[in-house]
Amino acid sequence: MKAAFIQFNPQFGEIEANIKKAVKHIERTEAEIIVLPELFNTGYLIVSKDEAFDLAEPLPHGKTTEALCAAALESKVHIIAGLIERQDENLFNAAVIISPTGYLGKYRKIHLFNEEKLWFQPGDLGLNFFDIGICKIGVMICFDWFFPESMRTLALNGADLICHSANLVLPFCQDAMKTRCLENRVFAVTANRTGEENRNGKSCRYTGRSQITGPDARILYQAGAETEEIGIAEIDIDLARNKNLNPYNHTLLDRRKEFYS
Ligand code: ACM
Repeated sequence: MKAAFIQFNPQFGEIEANIKKAVKHIERTEAEIIVLPELFNTGYLIVSKDEAFDLAEPLPHGKTTEALCAAALESKVHIIAGLIERQDENLFNAAVIISPTGYLGKYRKIHLFNEEKLWFQPGDLGLNFFDIGICKIGVMICFDWFFPESMRTLALNGADLICHSANLVLPFCQDAMKTRCLENRVFAVTANRTGEENRNGKSCRYTGRSQITGPDARILYQAGAETEEIGIAEIDIDLARNKNLNPYNHTLLDRRKEFYS
């Protein structure tokens, strides 16, 4: 089985153009699972709650999700993609999980970063996996990586492959993902974006270097810092299901929960 990311530089507020670019790349990507960046359709550097509302979509019937469902059907792929979800008066930094037969579900980011706390509600759906038949997918969004509990919980719940939509601004995640994958014996696809956004005197530079990481901490693919790029790697899911580090150590069962608070 193959998993992939699409790394690019979404243009702020250009939803149609960003979807079009993502779909064009999806059509050329030969993989069963494709991960797109966080807020891939809208851009990231929001400056007001009103603006965030205008960019948000209800799930599952927003135009972005519908376009991705059509692309997943056409290319027979699974897609994980970040967008802003609107539910009544609340906004969430969310990711949709889409199979070739349609919308499977969503994840809402539980660890909001910086000013995201001004626009979004913290995620309230927990860290569950999505069984897509060929593997069990766990979803995280960007800053979730900073909390080891996120990936640990997904691994304990049974996820084999972590789909990580990101707009990374700190330079540490790509290295940290090697440890996160090793300590949980899972694969991860971190789909980051590139470029810089400058809005209302604020600025964000994104670190690119999207990465596919193996359960032995090996980097299976790493993109450039600035490139528009599709990254693909072969995933042997049995490796993620064998949690034995050696004959005497099991990554999850050796935990000494009685000493952790
Ligand atoms: C981030 O969580 N987008 C840094």
